[in-house]
Amino acid sequence: MRRSRLVGCGAYLPDRVLGNDELSTRIDTSDEWIRTRTGIRQRHVAADDQLTSDLACAASRAALEAAGIGAGKLDLLVLATSTPDNTFPATATKVQARLGMTGGIAFDVQAVCAGFVCALQVADSMVRSGAADTALIVGAETYSRILDWDDRQTCVLFGDGAGAAVLRAETGAGSTEDSGVLSVRMRSDGRHYQALYVDGGVSSTQTSGHLRMQGREVFRHAVANLAEIAGEAMDAAGVAADEVDWLVPHQANRRIIDATGKKLGIPAEKTIVTVDRHANTSSASIPLALSAGIDDGRITPGDLLVVEAIGGGLVWGAGVIRL
Ligand code: UT7
Repeated sequence: MRRSRLVGCGAYLPDRVLGNDELSTRIDTSDEWIRTRTGIRQRHVAADDQLTSDLACAASRAALEAAGIGAGKLDLLVLATSTPDNTFPATATKVQARLGMTGGIAFDVQAVCAGFVCALQVADSMVRSGAADTALIVGAETYSRILDWDDRQTCVLFGDGAGAAVLRAETGAGSTEDSGVLSVRMRSDGRHYQALYVDGGVSSTQTSGHLRMQGREVFRHAVANLAEIAGEAMDAAGVAADEVDWLVPHQANRRIIDATGKKLGIPAEKTIVTVDRHANTSSASIPLALSAGIDDGRITPGDLLVVEAIGGGLVWGAGVIRL
């Protein structure tokens, strides 16, 4: 049975750290409000001359190094972003050139905060079908460019960053004990378009616009949808909650992370949390959390992981991976 196996992970965060206290000097908010409502203490912000592709390249190089694979071996690059360098071409093609990947195909996917799970599903499907052998999947964002820094309801929630993972085709028996992407499930419901969107765009305003969110509305959908889709992915993979070593969730809000874990029956001690340090980095949050868990030695080879995310669209998804 042909599967894709996750063989390396990498991350990049810009140097500039913006703490809650500094934000409180600019807008009517407080460290206490932000921490108790979201769990966020700080976020990283890209330098003026750093683009999404710069963050993506740094994370990609780290992932390739961790995998011990040269860019020349890649035949697929899927980059998830909702903050691309330009309207077109895909930011992925710029990253492709800068990494020195000369063959295969590179393209972007746009599923907002669920982008990394979407990239995982696309790349895994292409590897399983034989359309690709070695894939790089990246989540990279510069949300600082689309935030309304006068809107306290949104600007305190997001940060910039990038994460990447290398998937390689492997053939094995196909059991849940074998390493590989065991299942991925994705869903969307466009009736909630206005719950989380950017009020600009090429075809509408010819401006890039700013992020707008009905926070409570998104929160309400988040826990129910995430628990349901993660449950579906676990059923599809044939694994039970008590077999899961690590829940690696999208990092939007500590309360959403805890409530989803509780619904799934996965305890907080088995959940990777980075929202305190990174805030919500949209499509980058899962690979950033994955890299953090691997780098600090908690996540080890053979571990069974559940990843899940929800974002604008609404789009949501989950995957089960045996490392
Ligand atoms: O990654 C994509 C998915 N996005 C999410 O998952 C986000 C989901 N939503 C959330 O995480 C939460 O809804 C928020 C963190 C955005 C907001 O938390 P909440 O507990 O739902 O607060 P709220 O929006 O109901 O606001 C409560 C109060 C309001 O004041 P009043 O109307 O009660 O007087 C807000 O005006 O808090 C006020 N508020 C703030 N106060 C201080 C809103 N933002 C701030 C702020 N500082 N930054």
